[in-house]
Amino acid sequence: MKKISCLFLLAALLSNSIFAQQKKTVNLAQQKMDTFINSLLSKMTVDEKIGQLNLVTGGEATTGATVSTDVEAKIAKGNVGGIFSMTTPEKIRRTQEIAMKSRLKIPLIFGQDVIHGYKTTFPIPLALAASWDLLLIEKTARVAAIEASADGLNWTFSPMVDIARDARWGRIAEGSGEDTYLGSQIAKVMVRGYQENDLSKNNTLMACVKHFALYGAAEAGRDYNTTDMSLDRMYNEYLPPYKAALDAGAGSIMVSFNDINGVPATANKWLLTDVLRKQWGFKGFVASDYTGVVELVNHGLGDLKTVSALSLKAGTDMDMVSEGYLLTLKQSLKEGKVTIVQINNACRLILEAKYKLGLFEDPFRYCSEERAKTEILTPANIQFAREAATKTFVLLKNDNQTLPLKRTGTIAVIGPLANTSTNMPGTWSVNADLAKAPTLLQGLTEVAGKDVKILHALGSNLIADANQQTWATAHGRDIPRDNRPEEEIIAEAVKTASKADVVVAALGEASEMSGESSSRTDIGIPETQKKLLAALLKTGKPVVLVLFAGRPMTLKWESENVPAILNVWFGGIEATRAIGDVLFGDVNPSGKLTVTFPQNIGQVPLYYSHKNTGRPLGDKPWFTRFQSNYLDVSNEPLYPFGFGLSYTTFDYSNFKLSSNTLKPGQKLIANVTLTNTGKVAGEEIVQLYTRDLVGTSTRPVKELKGFQKIKLQPGESKVVTFSLTEEDLKFFNSDLKFVAESGDFKVFVGPNVRDVKEADFKLVK
Ligand code: BGC
Repeated sequence: MKKISCLFLLAALLSNSIFAQQKKTVNLAQQKMDTFINSLLSKMTVDEKIGQLNLVTGGEATTGATVSTDVEAKIAKGNVGGIFSMTTPEKIRRTQEIAMKSRLKIPLIFGQDVIHGYKTTFPIPLALAASWDLLLIEKTARVAAIEASADGLNWTFSPMVDIARDARWGRIAEGSGEDTYLGSQIAKVMVRGYQENDLSKNNTLMACVKHFALYGAAEAGRDYNTTDMSLDRMYNEYLPPYKAALDAGAGSIMVSFNDINGVPATANKWLLTDVLRKQWGFKGFVASDYTGVVELVNHGLGDLKTVSALSLKAGTDMDMVSEGYLLTLKQSLKEGKVTIVQINNACRLILEAKYKLGLFEDPFRYCSEERAKTEILTPANIQFAREAATKTFVLLKNDNQTLPLKRTGTIAVIGPLANTSTNMPGTWSVNADLAKAPTLLQGLTEVAGKDVKILHALGSNLIADANQQTWATAHGRDIPRDNRPEEEIIAEAVKTASKADVVVAALGEASEMSGESSSRTDIGIPETQKKLLAALLKTGKPVVLVLFAGRPMTLKWESENVPAILNVWFGGIEATRAIGDVLFGDVNPSGKLTVTFPQNIGQVPLYYSHKNTGRPLGDKPWFTRFQSNYLDVSNEPLYPFGFGLSYTTFDYSNFKLSSNTLKPGQKLIANVTLTNTGKVAGEEIVQLYTRDLVGTSTRPVKELKGFQKIKLQPGESKVVTFSLTEEDLKFFNSDLKFVAESGDFKVFVGPNVRDVKEADFKLVK
């Protein structure tokens, strides 16, 4: 006994001393950085300090009407702190060399929107989230960091962690969906994948979490629109993913475009100083979004000089593209509208980022022509992109085992998405070689093999209205138009379909129908494509709808009439080979929705984690007067959060809790037996939700608290175990205190948020 306690003591002493040693090293590193930055700051003129706050575009890709000009001359004068949208070691080296000739030789940072992969493009973030596979998602970020840093970059404008519950908002495609818990988990692993806890390595990128904050709650889903939100919702539902990303060590954060409760984020001192710095203790730097500072003029906060001073004072350190800081801050300093301390603070944070990236040691550390040749688009990365894509597809319907397809006979691949490569990588894939992604026709032909004959017809335009099609196929993501009358194009496709054994209808959105500035008020498949689908169904051939989508879509008619629907989102450069893998059953689909699919647009915003109201419909039939429901549609979604089918089936049984009470410091164990009851191996995403039944504030009807992805062979069973602690039950109460309140709780487990088994317990404090 004595021996054991001595051993414990020794171990404790040892770990204390290791901890003390680590702390000492961190402190020393911090001191070294402080000394360096202090000395540099003391040499800098006001102009040079303001120059560091200026972020300009390198001109390769822009996301606004304004483009930076005279960039090289400005760098030479020390008027630029960072560049984005410039790639390749050659160009970056040449540009960095200009900075190295400026008076103080302060290196530039080089950023880019590396959102879902770099040249090896992975599925769009909403799709990646549907994999519920944190290791996989982390690896996509890691691969992206390796490739992007091999091409000269050291900073990425990702992860995008905005909770989005309005399917009209096109940027829902860029995030992880509607759920706070899942979104926070994904935010963390993305940061880890990019930064690997060591920014000084030449194959990591500094993450820039965006868009702070609440950008996903833009009114009516119209991009850049106003947000007005209660503190309860903000703290409990929208802010946690940003915080999770910062806690994971993200080095920077990007401010959102939107107005928040009357003050646009870029000039919102409460948000950027009180919440971000004081409550959360964030130590990195804050960048505006593209022309976010000058847009404050349109928001109605004053002229460029006024809004620039407001932004700096609020806590926006770096001004992306507006050049409001460059043009006006010196004058504001003279007039006493900003202080030198404010300028110094912002400048210090940006210099620190450069220091942590190792740029003062070697400004060219990310400029390796050799790495650019050998580490980008490697066969292993491309193979991984294909695997990753297969994990993101969500099987929404599969009647009569229409899928998987047989590798014999004739398949007609029809629809405007069937023969386009440029649309496959998905929105925000600025670095993808668009022509390289195989079209669905090519991908399926390759995967199908020699015994399958593949036929093709366009079948319909993307959208009947030519103008709208042009807008929906921007940034080189074109889909050729056929100017014949709609009926003629459809008739031709019907003819082709009638020669086939099965029809694959490649329909839905083009990739630029989601993403930035791509909001829609009708989130269905465009009418002309629906007519085509109806005509294809009339042929009596089995039809598989391969749905391309960057958002939840309204598919009520399709869900009632089409035998099989595979939602493939936008799967990256290997999308179509991966679609082949799943359609032919080489891979069993396992993705599940992280956004609720509504029955119709009028239900939007529709999300599972809503409050109960005083008049919930509950189990009463729709329509029940004086209950919270609609006259014309039930409250149910078309496809609930967490939903997704497989080629096999899973059974949930023996759901049990270890106790019916939980006390602080204890763990409540929830066990459920999962059995693969079908004929093929498959992966199931088992989800655990809770409900806090009584609280000092109203609580959501369900909240995701855990999930596990389990692979089972046919007939195999496994006990899946979750554990809950008091910590998992905490929320921000009306005083914004993070607490768990004693009382009754429900816990649910199941394959999606709707089809759950439930049990009860009490939190006793
Ligand atoms: C977008 C950001 C992006 C930035 C730079 C803006 O329009 O909102 O997400 O990072 O452009 O490209």
